[in-house]
Amino acid sequence: MSGLAIRNLAKHYGRGAEAVPVFSGVSFDVAPGEFVAIVGPSGVGKSTLLNCLAALDTWDAGSVALDGADLSALDETQRALWRRRHVGFVFQAFHVLPHLDVAQNVALPLMLLGRHDGARVAAMLDAVGLRGLGARLPQQLSGGQLQRVAIARALVHQPRLLLADEPTGNLDPGTAAQVMDLLLAQTRQHGAALVLVTHSETAAARADRVIHLRADGVH
Ligand SMILES: Nc1ncnc2c1ncn2[C@@H]1O[C@H](COP(=O)(O)OP(=O)(O)OP(=O)(O)O)[C@@H](O)[C@H]1O
Ligand SMILES: [Mg+2]
Repeated sequence: MSGLAIRNLAKHYGRGAEAVPVFSGVSFDVAPGEFVAIVGPSGVGKSTLLNCLAALDTWDAGSVALDGADLSALDETQRALWRRRHVGFVFQAFHVLPHLDVAQNVALPLMLLGRHDGARVAAMLDAVGLRGLGARLPQQLSGGQLQRVAIARALVHQPRLLLADEPTGNLDPGTAAQVMDLLLAQTRQHGAALVLVTHSETAAARADRVIHLRADGVH
């Protein structure tokens, strides 16, 4: 089974009497080359769900599998290696490393895989409209430019699974459309599975499917 398969996923924060359920009964598939948008009100668990799909967070019940490989079967180290190779993640809060310049931030996934490629990094910077800014430090960029660094970094190693949390939230409409084009190019041309969380109707309108996350599952 290729692509992403999520079955009956359930997650809570805290323990015992303090336990706070986030969601349960979440099941859906994302085929290679498919774009699924996840929508839902603030606090419903969209970022938590993406973190589970990247194996950055743990869950209480259910399973997540990519290309038939069940993530629950992997230990911490194997999960880190799996993530490095197969996942591109655009975080809601960017997570750009402040002491690395823009080009080093974008090159990071390739460095971790031992596949550094300066031409590829330059091409990605070009593609997100940051040509010539590779030597800048993150603190010297605007919010929208930082978001584009995060997008270039998520795409540079051509991952099988692309997870994006409000990737166009800080961008003007023209730049947002360009960023969506880039995410969709990786999805359509390279068969990545794209799961994108958004409040933007324009972004959701481009999805193959829109999934509404609620506490009792997806609808
Ligand atoms: N580490 C944590 N410990 C306890 N509760 C948490 C933790 N992280 C998130 N939560 C809670 O879990 C719920 C889901 O949070 P999450 O960040 O996934 O929501 P979201 O749907 O992404 O919201 P937004 O649209 O505002 O980004 C929220 O009620 C939040 O307060
Ligand atoms: Mg969120």
